[in-house]
Amino acid sequence: MKQYDIASIGGDGIGPEVTAQAMRILDAAAEQFGFSLKIQDYPLGTDYYLANNEIFPSSIFEECKQQHAIFLGAIGDPRVPVGMIEFGIIAKLRFELDLYINLRPVKLYDARLCPLKDKTPEDIDMLIVRENTEGAYSGMHGFAHKGQPLEVATQTMVYTREGVERAVRYAFELTKTRAERKVTLVDKANAIRAQDIWTRTFAEVAAEYPDVATDHAYVDAACMWMIKNPEWFDVIVTPNLFGDIITDLGASLQGGMGIAASGNIHPGQVSLFEPIHGSAPKHAGKNVASPVAAIMAASMLLDYVGEKEAGAAIETAIVDLVRDGSIRGVSTAMHRTDEVGDMVLERMRSTAGV
Ligand code: IPM
Ligand code: MG
Repeated sequence: MKQYDIASIGGDGIGPEVTAQAMRILDAAAEQFGFSLKIQDYPLGTDYYLANNEIFPSSIFEECKQQHAIFLGAIGDPRVPVGMIEFGIIAKLRFELDLYINLRPVKLYDARLCPLKDKTPEDIDMLIVRENTEGAYSGMHGFAHKGQPLEVATQTMVYTREGVERAVRYAFELTKTRAERKVTLVDKANAIRAQDIWTRTFAEVAAEYPDVATDHAYVDAACMWMIKNPEWFDVIVTPNLFGDIITDLGASLQGGMGIAASGNIHPGQVSLFEPIHGSAPKHAGKNVASPVAAIMAASMLLDYVGEKEAGAAIETAIVDLVRDGSIRGVSTAMHRTDEVGDMVLERMRSTAGV
């Protein structure tokens, strides 16, 4: 029997609650599809930091590296400075594990969840490939004359040929799983001239995929088209910062933070899966947060490690429950957190006839 080693980091706020549901579903999928999971729970997050004065001990980090995949619930807590835990955990994992793809499926499961009028699941089905280790996030910044009237602050956007090419190539390869087979480059090369490297690299890689259609949109226009004509998009590839922004826009098209999941991926190596929502401290511990996004992240995780059927079964259960109205919505307090977990488990079992 195949065994997968999974690190589970519940994190802050609602993170542990939604993670608990995702882990229940993973266990059920393992049983149903005949593989085994060794899930190691790591209590990292703000409480851990406050108790130990260390965010991510290197011994735990080394253990995480040995897993097939890592699951992360949510990070962030008002008791510590903004960004501290985010960077100590998410950014550390992204950079030190070189998770160069941030993959965010934007798929509408039912028109009821979409804030746009007259848009259906046929219209909203795209995969956003966000470059995940470079650009404005590469960390190169500085301050001169800090605190003085003439202070200067800079942050450098960094693009390497290899970094751009591997993201673009990943996007083109993804079209093999798609019916439409189109890649749209979203950038701002007309204003940010360094992004010409994206324009050139995209054209070169596209030439290797003559049967894949290509398109281009500047990021400002892309925001408009994603709202007006989301059906135009299939696979999108974009630099890190724009990817951060348009994937939240994408999440709202599919029903919001309660449903959107993502993978931080280095193909062939340990990769990280997370719901894209934050830790929502005010809802923590109340059993009211939607675990759907976390469960969808678990589905992506299984797909990634190679258990494609199991991953798809989880997604199908969610789609069915949303479409038949059992899951009434994915915003806070629509359901109890564990009630949604119960429903997904039950649906997976009944679909499998067990
Ligand atoms: C995301 C988040 C992170 C990002 C934050 C938490 C640093 O918004 O995963 O999109 O900006 O990448
Ligand atoms: Mg973001």
